[in-house]
Amino acid sequence: MEKELEQLKRWISESSNIVFFGGAGVSTESGIPDFRSVDGLYNMQYDYPPETIISHSFYQRNPEEFYRFYKNKMLFPDAKPNAAHLALSRLERQGKLKAVITQNIDGLHQAAGSREVMELHGSVHRNYCTRCRQAYDLEAIMKPDGVPRCICGGIIKPDVVLYEEGLDQATLQKSVRYISQAEVLIVGGTSLTVYPAAGLVDYYRGTKLVLINRDVTAIDSRANLVISGKIGEILGQIVD
Ligand code: APR
Repeated sequence: MEKELEQLKRWISESSNIVFFGGAGVSTESGIPDFRSVDGLYNMQYDYPPETIISHSFYQRNPEEFYRFYKNKMLFPDAKPNAAHLALSRLERQGKLKAVITQNIDGLHQAAGSREVMELHGSVHRNYCTRCRQAYDLEAIMKPDGVPRCICGGIIKPDVVLYEEGLDQATLQKSVRYISQAEVLIVGGTSLTVYPAAGLVDYYRGTKLVLINRDVTAIDSRANLVISGKIGEILGQIVD
């Protein structure tokens, strides 16, 4: 592992065009479970498969059940940025990292000070009335029992991409641009199993594709550098 860390440290020190692409594994060291690890959200027992519950049709058919699951299992208002989030924020401040592209909805990259953050799957901090479009913060979802409602009576919906919903095209296109122009692409804390997000890696055209992940992924064989382990520990150790 020492050799790989030295290599990554060298690529980071030599570059001013690094892009980071991450997933739920970036936030597990902040106490937020990921989805597909053995202790992940999708491996816990529920009446329905979680991917069914956090889908557009389930939200429409069973808003009460949807919100019970969403509030109990998808919101971590007390979670704090970990060493991975903080290291990426430092790299941006040093003018080395151009953007963070994340599948996470927890807002921890911004909480760590990152400014250019592409939230492919939205954010729990952005909520809006489905009738009058009034914007609401996370508090408005957390506070009431049951289905949160706007003063106009409409249901308040999180600005989070549910299964069966499309991603924001502008965010996707901007992410493609950052990745296709990146000198170094660091992919971390993601199983790379959900599209179109996972397909973004295909736009990388450089020769410094770095993978930092606890488990094996579909792109291990394509990466120029693979570091297995906890991303918070790894980035916290090598980023000044
Ligand atoms: N350090 C490094 N890797 C980690 C860590 C860690 N501390 N913790 C977990 N991992 C790895 C796991 O080994 C796993 O490969 O992170 C990956 C997390 O994969 P998933 O749980 O599938 O999460 P993600 O890839 O973000 O899922 C993508 O699926 O359900 C949708 O919308 C949801 O955005 C999510 C998308």
